[in-house]
Amino acid sequence: MRIALGADHAGWAQKDQLVAYLVKKDYEVVDVGPYRDEESVDYPDYALKACDAVLTGQVDCAILVCGTGIGMAMTANKLPRIRAANVVLPQFGALCREHNDANVLALSGRFIDFETNRQIVDEFLGASFKGDRHQARLDKIAELE
Ligand code: RB5
Repeated sequence: MRIALGADHAGWAQKDQLVAYLVKKDYEVVDVGPYRDEESVDYPDYALKACDAVLTGQVDCAILVCGTGIGMAMTANKLPRIRAANVVLPQFGALCREHNDANVLALSGRFIDFETNRQIVDEFLGASFKGDRHQARLDKIAELE
């Protein structure tokens, strides 16, 4: 599986930790940045880079980290065919795949510790969309795009 990772200054440190973790687990990782601890960057810029990789088929999904995950999810969900979930509980990491077919996971680098985010990522990557009645609901969301 190929995964894009992106962040802002508030998510940069955990993004780098997740990149190392996922590479070690043999995932193909595309790190869209930022690549160093910058004073301040704008999360929409990095959300767009990672979502673009999803939409062009370069990767299968994306993981975004900002202070709360909220701004990343708001930005990502502006794009047709992107379904981003801002997740703070490991169980929701699986549910957003199973019920919502989320293709973008937005995490909090400031309020959620790395161990919890790592568990969320494991749940997200280990789960599959359940289709059926859930697909009918996603079709209704897609009609809004
Ligand atoms: C940056 O200060 C912060 O606003 C950003 O990382 C994020 O939490 C926005 O949703």
